[in-house]
Amino acid sequence: MTEDICLVTGASGFVASHVVQQLLESGYQVHATVRSIKNEKKVKHLLDMQAKWPGKLTLFEADLLKAGSFDAAAKGCSVVYHIASPFFIESRIRDGQKEVVEPALKGTQHVLDAVQKCETIKLVVVTSSVAAIFGDNADVQNMKENTLSSEYFNTTSTVTHNAYSYSKAIAEREAWKYYEAQPNPRRWRLVTINPGLVLGPSLSPTSESGSLSLLNQLLRGELFLGVPDLWFATVDVREVATAHLRVAQNPDSHGRYILADKEMHSFVEFARILRSLAHSSRIPEHKLPNSLVRLCGPLLGLSQKWLKLNLGVKFNINNHASVEELKIVYRPLKETLTDHFHSWSVQRKSQ
Ligand SMILES: NC(=O)c1ccc[n+]([C@@H]2O[C@H](COP(=O)([O-])OP(=O)(O)OC[C@H]3O[C@@H](n4cnc5c(N)ncnc54)[C@H](OP(=O)(O)O)[C@@H]3O)[C@@H](O)[C@H]2O)c1
Repeated sequence: MTEDICLVTGASGFVASHVVQQLLESGYQVHATVRSIKNEKKVKHLLDMQAKWPGKLTLFEADLLKAGSFDAAAKGCSVVYHIASPFFIESRIRDGQKEVVEPALKGTQHVLDAVQKCETIKLVVVTSSVAAIFGDNADVQNMKENTLSSEYFNTTSTVTHNAYSYSKAIAEREAWKYYEAQPNPRRWRLVTINPGLVLGPSLSPTSESGSLSLLNQLLRGELFLGVPDLWFATVDVREVATAHLRVAQNPDSHGRYILADKEMHSFVEFARILRSLAHSSRIPEHKLPNSLVRLCGPLLGLSQKWLKLNLGVKFNINNHASVEELKIVYRPLKETLTDHFHSWSVQRKSQ
């Protein structure tokens, strides 16, 4: 048990819900921010947690775009987990600046402004992404030994090409600027968690997270003709949440932690596992030929440049720091997807 109070931003979301739950299970007091407490669908699972852990979870309203929004929630906290940030897949984004870049950057500024004002805060954990390290998969071919490593920053994304990745890169850089700008000795430490594609069971039935919507397309049978030859760094949401807690529990944690299995997985591997679980012939078991995907690119909302730099491109992943320093044990993809599928089925039935 601990008297530490932790602030979690974006508590309605896929990743943050698991962080809140694991913090409560570990005995922490939690201040959790959501956009609207009145939005029953979005906060129901948090109200259930309040009932299960009486007096331990307090909800606050805060908007990434509003200055001063996080000040009240930050009061009395020692650790801040800044997780809120919109995540949409590339093909769904129409106005990158408005949909992802502004909320990511302004949100980071507003949360860290609250941290500056709050003397009790000693640690800030920012949920960044592997997208802050690379934009297109082909970027990793320019890294040492074709291996994704936390020593790099994404320099190829823009508002119009991989806007989400751009939002994560500039938001993380901004966080490091705030950290560096503190007078010496610095009061608060900054650590970032940089997860790959996060999969697994969702506690939050309304999340529009890009990783959930990617798998929803498969599960709803929308990709029955086949899937593009795409490869992903993947991680289970429960490991991501555990890593957030371990950063605070390890006084030596520092820098950026890539959270992803050391080997990439392909979209067709996701499809085959889900097909076997759902017993549905509308979930494909084959890849589409790259030539066909290029032809259909505009219909899928993907540019030729994006397809050229991502289709069929694989790399290795250096996740050593998460294993050595945070003691993360990565579970097999099949277990993650099995739990993902069961949680999706339960939520679909209750809708
Ligand atoms: N899922 C992944 O594969 C993945 C991978 C790497 C990193 N991440 C990072 O993990 C974090 C959480 O993502 P997620 O997958 O959990 O997505 P999510 O379920 O969509 O969560 C995003 C959260 O951000 C909040 N948010 C968005 N715009 C906001 C605004 N203007 N003001 C206040 N809150 C706002 C959302 O609140 P509402 O519920 O009100 O919309 C939601 O709680 C993000 O920082 C994302 O970049 C995710």
